[in-house]
Amino acid sequence: MPRPTVLATRPLFEEARRILQEKCQVEYWSEPERIPKEELFARAQDKQGLVCLLTERIDEAFLHAAPHLRIVANVAVGFDNIDVPACTKRGVVATNTPGVLDETTADFAWTLMMAVARRLGEGEALARSGKWTGWDLDQLVGTDVWGKTLGLVGFGRIGRAVARRASGFKMKVLYTDVVHVSEDTEKQLNAEYRDMDTLLAQSDFISVHVPLLPETQGLFTTAKFARMKPTAFFINTARGSVVDEAALVQALETKKIAGAALDVYEKEPVIHPGLNRANVVLAPHLASASLETRTKMACIAATNVRDFFDGKRPPNILNPEVLKTTG
Ligand code: DGY
Repeated sequence: MPRPTVLATRPLFEEARRILQEKCQVEYWSEPERIPKEELFARAQDKQGLVCLLTERIDEAFLHAAPHLRIVANVAVGFDNIDVPACTKRGVVATNTPGVLDETTADFAWTLMMAVARRLGEGEALARSGKWTGWDLDQLVGTDVWGKTLGLVGFGRIGRAVARRASGFKMKVLYTDVVHVSEDTEKQLNAEYRDMDTLLAQSDFISVHVPLLPETQGLFTTAKFARMKPTAFFINTARGSVVDEAALVQALETKKIAGAALDVYEKEPVIHPGLNRANVVLAPHLASASLETRTKMACIAATNVRDFFDGKRPPNILNPEVLKTTG
């Protein structure tokens, strides 16, 4: 029997390649630049599987160009780049990589929080500039993180992992989400529920952990920033489009908030020029970027594809109804 053909838009990692190649004949895009749209469409034309990144749009036009496709495996937990209903309509299974990046992403939310509060970006620039004249009493004084109030918008796996780290910093933790967690979980994490407006008004650090959905698109508006303390810092490791970036820039310019630390942007890789400010820490979508975690993400995507072509239910299927209709 011929092996199912799969396109991977990156060479992945050795461990993931081994998993994929157990069952499939794989073509890897391994040029230094990311795969151009025309190449993606052309190379996917005869493939039955695709392992893709969150920078590739899997929409109706792509699916039309890949008529033999049976599975799309995103190497990411977020899947706003995939039109899942369009996949379902065409009988294409879609999968993601939940669970393995929670702790690493939580670490990075803390990295950003500490960096913006303690002015690490400015300090590093000074240390490298050759212009540092030595210790001074009021030099680059920042804000304490410990003992403050942390407001988590979104209290799923990642939000909770961020909360868990807060106890070492003796912080008060507030959260808001469409679902209240159990009293036991609240106790364990030392976290208290607040409605969104109260959380925004009471928090010193506001960290975002919601997925990008129609309901969360543009969630952070001018009105939301206006509710925050003028001393508050806004941290986003979720998705750029949950924030109205122009409103954030305006909030920073008018000192409605003290600063921001961002890993994700509305129009990645374009960053709003108004965010290029000393009180804003900017990272290029790195929250899950540890070798351990990225390797696990690639392995999960590969496993989803391998299992599917092995006749099994892929562990992280987003549209299980496809399996019911195709048997
Ligand atoms: C994801 O998996 O959705 C992350 O944004 C990648 O780091």
